[in-house]
Amino acid sequence: MTDPAPASPTSAPGPAAVEVRGVDKVFETRTGQVQALQGIDLAIAPGEFVSLIGPSGCGKSTLMRLIADLDDPTGGTLSVFGKPARQARLDQDYGIAFQQAGLLPWRTVAANVALPLELHGAASADRRDRVARLLDMVGLSDFADRYPDQLSGGMQQRVAIARALAERPRLLLMDEPFGALDEMTREKMQSDLVRISAETGAAVVFVTHSIPEAVFLSDRVVVMSPRPGRIQEIVPMRLGADARRAARTDELREERSFFDMVTAVREALHGGSPVASGARGVENR
Ligand SMILES: Nc1ncnc2c1ncn2[C@@H]1O[C@H](COP(=O)(O)OP(=O)(O)OP(=O)(O)O)[C@@H](O)[C@H]1O
Ligand SMILES: [Mg+2]
Repeated sequence: MTDPAPASPTSAPGPAAVEVRGVDKVFETRTGQVQALQGIDLAIAPGEFVSLIGPSGCGKSTLMRLIADLDDPTGGTLSVFGKPARQARLDQDYGIAFQQAGLLPWRTVAANVALPLELHGAASADRRDRVARLLDMVGLSDFADRYPDQLSGGMQQRVAIARALAERPRLLLMDEPFGALDEMTREKMQSDLVRISAETGAAVVFVTHSIPEAVFLSDRVVVMSPRPGRIQEIVPMRLGADARRAARTDELREERSFFDMVTAVREALHGGSPVASGARGVENR
C-alpha cells in the first residue's frame, strides 16, 4: 500500500476541507474597534495539514474560532467541506483540541473519550469498541479507568485528542494543543499527531508559536502578521525526497531540509528578509 502524496488545494477532488474567502473580523470594544483579521483568503485541502504561526495577537485563535463557528466573521465567507461553518458544526465535521485539555474531572479517561459518542446516541457496544481503539491509538489503553487528575499534562492532552477524533472528523482544529508541555513530551506528541493524522486522513489546522513544530507537522505553514491580522506568506514545506507525513520521523529533525524550512518560515515571519535573531513572540526551539 502506498500513501497518497501530501494534498494540495489544486489537486484534491471535491470541496476544500476549509475555504476562507475575504474574511474580516472586527471586534467592538469599549475603547473602540479592533480589526483582528483583514482580507483572509485560505483554502485547505482534505487531508492537508496546515499550521498558523505569527506573533501574539495576529488573529490565529480568532480565525480558528470562525472556522469552528464559535464566532461570526464581520465580512467574507467561510465554508467547511463545502458547507457553511454552522452546518459543518451541526454535522460534526470537525473535532477541536485547544491549549487546555478541557477534560471533565469526574469522568474517567474512557468516559471522557466516550462523551461525544454518548451525546450523539451511539450504541453502547459500538461506543466501547470505538473508545478502546481511540485509547490504543493515543497509547493510553492502560489508563482507561484513571481520572484526569491522575494523568500528566501530556497524557491529558492525548485524551483530548482521542476525544476530538471520536466522531471520525474529517477535520481537526487544534489551537496550541502542546503549548503547556515540556520539550521532550512535545516532540513525542508531534510524532504521535503526524502518525494519527496520516492514519485517519483528517485535515488539520494547527496553531503554534514554535517554528520547528510547524515545520515538522505541516504540509504548508501560514505565516500571519498583526494589526490588522493578515496572511503574510504561505510557505509550502519541502522536506527532502520523502515528504509524506507518514514518513516523518525524529530523524527528520536533524536533516538539512528541515533546517532550511525552519529558516524559510523565520524569514517569512520577518517579511522576507534574512534574520539574525528570533522573531518576537515566536519560539525558535
Ligand atoms: N472577544 C474579543 N473582544 C475584543 N477583542 C478581541 C477578542 N478576541 C480577540 N480580540 C483581539 O483580536 C486580536 C487577535 O486575537 P487572537 O486571540 O486571535 O490572537 P492570537 O494570534 O491567537 O494570539 P496568541 O498567539 O497570543 O494566542 C487581538 O488584538 C485581540 O486583543
Ligand atoms: Mg491564540
